Amino acid sequence: MITASRSEAAGHRSAARRRWAAWTVLLGLLMAGCGTRELPQSALNPAGPVARAQDELWDLVFWIAVGVFILVQGLILFAVFRFRDRGGDEIPKQVAGNTKLELMWTIIPALILVGIAVPTVQTIFELAQEPGEEALDVRVIGKQYWWGFEYLDEDQQGVITANELHIPTGRPVFLRMQALSATQPDPGFDAAPEIGQGVSNGVIHSFWVPRLAGKQDVVPGHTRTLTIQADEPGLYPGQCAEFCGLSHARMRFDVIAHEPAEFDQWIADQAEPAEAAEDGLAAEGEELFQSQQCIACHAIDGYEAAAGTAAEVRIGPNLTHFASRRTFAGGVFDVNDEAQLKAWLANPQAVKAGSQMPNLGLTDDQIDALTAYLYTLE
Ligand code: CUA
Repeated sequence: MITASRSEAAGHRSAARRRWAAWTVLLGLLMAGCGTRELPQSALNPAGPVARAQDELWDLVFWIAVGVFILVQGLILFAVFRFRDRGGDEIPKQVAGNTKLELMWTIIPALILVGIAVPTVQTIFELAQEPGEEALDVRVIGKQYWWGFEYLDEDQQGVITANELHIPTGRPVFLRMQALSATQPDPGFDAAPEIGQGVSNGVIHSFWVPRLAGKQDVVPGHTRTLTIQADEPGLYPGQCAEFCGLSHARMRFDVIAHEPAEFDQWIADQAEPAEAAEDGLAAEGEELFQSQQCIACHAIDGYEAAAGTAAEVRIGPNLTHFASRRTFAGGVFDVNDEAQLKAWLANPQAVKAGSQMPNLGLTDDQIDALTAYLYTLE
């Protein structure tokens, strides 16, 4: 008796657990549907012509799929209820093969697939076209774990930035993208390393700004292209969408779209070389920046570095206008968070696992001075 009631209780408990699990899953699914049009990383909320073309294709395929789902599930439910066993039924007549039906269920799906394939192939070819002369040319470099952006047009005087891609609205931006190893110096755009040339090429990343375009893999030894365009000024968050190592999740970036005149002003500001620090602590930091090897990896335009002219050093992000950016360390930390910046300088791996920035064993005083200097780089 005792045994029976015990197992009964256990049965109730496991039934209750199953009910809870079912409710949790259902609630999770419901919550997943709670998106609003404000989501900054929704591909279903396109903000430019490239993303819109992809979204329109998605809509078409989605509604065709909805139609197929309703039709198939409807027929199944109809058959289940209409022809259910009411007791005493005889076994129905057995049939093997029905040419008419077989033709029907071959031809209809084939037509559906054609209906999806034609617009899909059209869109793929449309989007693969390189934009014309009016496009803004930018080189994108994927590294472990940050993004570099180099403005290639002649009038943009080689502006280089990191984790923040500024673009003008209403104009296509043609991205040519390469993956480079974390620690090798960049051989430059024209001498992109080929696989097997003795240059370690890094790993595959994927460039994704959901509201502006679909993903594009950035593959070592190749130059991949992607066109993006934004209609309205604004902030469009992006991220690496291909697992690339320990800090893959910390390889974010922002696309910031400006009105064209504002964009031109931004380029002009960025083209200015860094000014020498005046204040005592910052000047001390500037000196440390050069004596502590920082400059061997990070270019600051206007300085010569050990490894060549400063602009050619691209192991780490170019820091000429560090303080004008929103974030640092792969779009992860707020530039204005001084405590975070100091923690980063003190021990990069502790705040971002797998980071290639070395721990230089800096003292607190040195970190204070370097931080003061970095904040002068506006
Ligand atoms: Cu780069 Cu994931």
